[in-house]
Amino acid sequence: MRLIIKNNYKECAKWTADYIAGKIHSAAPTPEKPFVIGLPTGSTPLGVYERLIELNRKGLISFQNVITFNMDEYVGLDENHPQSYHYFMWQNFFSKIDIKKENVHILDGTTEDLQKECENYEKMIKEAGGIDLFLGGCGNDGHIAFNEPGSSLTSYTRMKTLTEDTIKANARFFDGDCTKVPKTALTVGIGTITDAKEVLIMMTGLAKADALQHAVEESVSQMWPVTILQMHKSALIITDDECTDKLRVGTVKYFKGIESKITDSFESIFSNK
Ligand code: GLP
Repeated sequence: MRLIIKNNYKECAKWTADYIAGKIHSAAPTPEKPFVIGLPTGSTPLGVYERLIELNRKGLISFQNVITFNMDEYVGLDENHPQSYHYFMWQNFFSKIDIKKENVHILDGTTEDLQKECENYEKMIKEAGGIDLFLGGCGNDGHIAFNEPGSSLTSYTRMKTLTEDTIKANARFFDGDCTKVPKTALTVGIGTITDAKEVLIMMTGLAKADALQHAVEESVSQMWPVTILQMHKSALIITDDECTDKLRVGTVKYFKGIESKITDSFESIFSNK
């Protein structure tokens, strides 16, 4: 696992976006062989989306042959609900880039047969050739997508009940009112995420310090779903100094030392643009 530690959120977001742009660039996707990416919502990826929009507007990267699969969606919120993840994605990203509408996939939490919706989602991911890169955020309790603590580490897309902690954390998007937060969501499973060829999780800020400490220093555990990254062949966590608060000084030094010797190829293409 790579652990990239940047000074602050802004640097993390830029690095992540440039990294993704580099992956799309080197894959040189075509309609026959598109680049398939898994995407999150939440406040964490916002800066990444802003930077990707900028690179797209500057003509440095195109999403014409990119297929996306979002991680999750609340049950019961239709796509026009301002707190639905459909709305979030179109508002903050898709409407501002050159992606084709038919290449965007987001679970529908309003459909009658939710189980079929989940099964079909997995089928579509397979048909697209699997996910090349899954970008994710992480909850304060280590959840990824809506795979709450206790989720099966080999799960696939299904409906999950949100924990009280997640409902409280997400109430900030619902006028601070927990009663307005849906109690269930459709979510890709942990297996869906780890089946991706590469997984990149962004964790920034002090509130995620415990989750980062578990992800990097503790054992794999269903109670901290993000720890599953330790089992992945190509996993990367990008974080900021603040979030490393609970890591051992030696751990921070170790990963900073490794990264100081690595120059990623995308850096020469996008970093100064
Ligand atoms: C929600 C989403 C997750 C996201 C998490 C953290 O629970 N389902 O995908 O990673 O929130 O959100 P934020 O980035 O706002 O901290």
